Amino acid sequence: MKIILIGASGTIGSQLAGAFEMEHDIIRVGSKSGDIQADISNPASIEKLFRQVKSFDAVISAAGAAYFGPWDSTTDKEYRIGIDSKLMGQINLVLIGKQYINPNGSFTLTSGILSHDPVLGGSNASVTNGGINSFVRAASIELKNGVRINAVSPNVLEDSPQYFPFFPGEIPVKGKDVVAAYVKSVLGAGTGKVIEVH
Ligand SMILES: NC(=O)c1ccc[n+]([C@@H]2O[C@H](COP(=O)([O-])OP(=O)(O)OC[C@H]3O[C@@H](n4cnc5c(N)ncnc54)[C@H](OP(=O)(O)O)[C@@H]3O)[C@@H](O)[C@H]2O)c1
Repeated sequence: MKIILIGASGTIGSQLAGAFEMEHDIIRVGSKSGDIQADISNPASIEKLFRQVKSFDAVISAAGAAYFGPWDSTTDKEYRIGIDSKLMGQINLVLIGKQYINPNGSFTLTSGILSHDPVLGGSNASVTNGGINSFVRAASIELKNGVRINAVSPNVLEDSPQYFPFFPGEIPVKGKDVVAAYVKSVLGAGTGKVIEVH
């Protein structure tokens, strides 16, 4: 299977690359890193990526920024970070990528626990993650040619200690369990699912 992996150099993406590359052809993408550079917050850059790859069976996105910071000073400007990058970036991967993906292909997006379990300072990520989960459910009834779509929604990872102060009392999840959720999405038969890892 030929898989486009957005965010392949990241904490989640590098573990996904290691797991999928054993049996699949992986095209690593980042805004600055990878086999191909593409910025998911820029629709023209996404279009160029898919034109360049031409034919593929799956897109996995483990990329997209959201703002963390004090609610009292959060304005439209900070909210746009998650909306433009993590939410619309991943939505545009699907809206544009559906014109290029092979029949019976799949899209796997990344949301996160904050959609339904908010933390202080994380409201932008909560809104963003909730939007991704809703998009996946809605898009699953629209996509044609057997193309599937799911979201993986992880808790904070053991490998991301920089986020621990935002998640008091949470038990971080193991990378291998997060990888398993993406494997389930890409190689399984489900669609319109939010696969939680907690
Ligand atoms: N880590 C966690 O605990 C955790 C938990 C739940 C959800 N998540 C979500 O999972 C996603 C990945 O998290 P992570 O911790 O693995 O991130 P990370 O380590 O910061 O890595 C981000 C990856 O995405 C790429 N990237 C960033 N901005 C991009 C853009 N505009 N266009 C294309 N590629 C871009 C980066 O490559 P370049 O530098 O080359 O752009 C890098 O490969 C994020 O959306 C995050 O919110 C993470």
